[in-house]
Amino acid sequence: MNFLRVTGTELKKEAPIAVFDSGVGGISVLRALLLEMPNENYRYYGDSANAPYGTKSLEEVRSLTIAHVDRFIREGAKAVVVACNTATSAAVRLLRQKYPAVPLIGIEPALKPAALSGNHPNVIVMATPMTIREQKFHNLMERYMNVAHIIPLPCPGLMEYIEHGDIHSMELEQFLERLFEPFDKQKLDAVVLGCTHYPFVSKELKRVLGEGVQLYEGGPGTARETKRRLSEAGLLRGGCAKGRVWFENSACSKEKLRLCERLLRES
Ligand code: DGL
Repeated sequence: MNFLRVTGTELKKEAPIAVFDSGVGGISVLRALLLEMPNENYRYYGDSANAPYGTKSLEEVRSLTIAHVDRFIREGAKAVVVACNTATSAAVRLLRQKYPAVPLIGIEPALKPAALSGNHPNVIVMATPMTIREQKFHNLMERYMNVAHIIPLPCPGLMEYIEHGDIHSMELEQFLERLFEPFDKQKLDAVVLGCTHYPFVSKELKRVLGEGVQLYEGGPGTARETKRRLSEAGLLRGGCAKGRVWFENSACSKEKLRLCERLLRES
């Protein structure tokens, strides 16, 4: 009979992919995942009650991230995407050791395509103070130091605008103007959006930096890698039925959930 042929793996294929960020930023990664794999089910969890992560200590971010991922796996996620550069640099290596059988995908600043985009281009990497401080980023930077002029730019205070749903205001534009004041924009070739919140202010950034500056985000690469890992594990849902997306947020406010839906719709 048919139901006897439903194996554990087939049941698991229906399980959601957990997508996690310190807040609403990871929705820029969820958007890329949906483009790459519209048939999957997604559980998006934002830890806005504890945001920002980028100005916390390594230990704090590590223990928050591990606690969330423990719960996603306990509750049946078939894979986990840590859609936060900060949490990835703090905890993904440890999580992979803890859960070797679970596809666990992190995100890192898309420095490679930016550094290879021209002849020794000038590249700014925008990220949280913690991402820039961590060894993972230093290793990444070292790999491309010979082919590009790379300037790390910590951006404390920027994620808060997006977290509050402010992606188009005069205040935001002034914040970005001040951030880039020390740089000669004419000489700038590329900017890496090394925090998953930042793609939501791409339009404002283009206004401040000029259309000639290329912006790079890590979401699409992370989505391709997630698909590759699921396929390798035989866990792709397949078929042609569209998957479901549901949002959860530690801030427990309806407003936050509405912001999640708005960001996904508008992006
Ligand atoms: N979205 C997170 C990232 O990609 C960081 C935001 C925060 O500081 O919490 O790094």
